[in-house]
Amino acid sequence: MIARVLFAPVFALVFAFAHFVQADFAQVNVYGQPLTFCAPGTGFFRNGTCATDPVTDGGVHTVCGVITTAFLQNQLSNGNDLITPHPEITFPGLKDGDRWCVYAQRWKQALFQGAGIKAVLSATHIKTLEIVGMSLDAFKDFGI
Ligand SMILES: *[C@@H]1O[C@H](CO)[C@@H](O)[C@H](O)[C@H]1NC(C)=O
Repeated sequence: MIARVLFAPVFALVFAFAHFVQADFAQVNVYGQPLTFCAPGTGFFRNGTCATDPVTDGGVHTVCGVITTAFLQNQLSNGNDLITPHPEITFPGLKDGDRWCVYAQRWKQALFQGAGIKAVLSATHIKTLEIVGMSLDAFKDFGI
């Protein structure tokens, strides 16, 4: 009897937690819909989407950004060279007009330093909003 009484709340808690974790893992865009394609070979999983992993993707490659020269120069001046190719990590090096899944923190840094880039909203992971600390409405101003 006691076991039965305890079981329901414990099960409910475990279920709620599992649901929470799963929601956190959802590979969806800022609208809560499936991520659209960003660019060939981009993303933490290098599969063309800005999908992320809450545990192993430390940099959080979640913004599908439209690269500009000003952004590349800004990042270089912050010690983040995105121009030089690194084949060993299948990184082609970026140039003006490319699309690429950039770190959410770097996207925000560039924005605050006057070198912000547009985000492709349908291809940008929802986790971005939490990291950059913006509502969807605010973030949309920087989206295409
Ligand atoms: C890319 O990888 C993520 C994580 O494994 C997966 O959720 C997503 O469906 C993949 N997308 C494509 C286009 O393969």
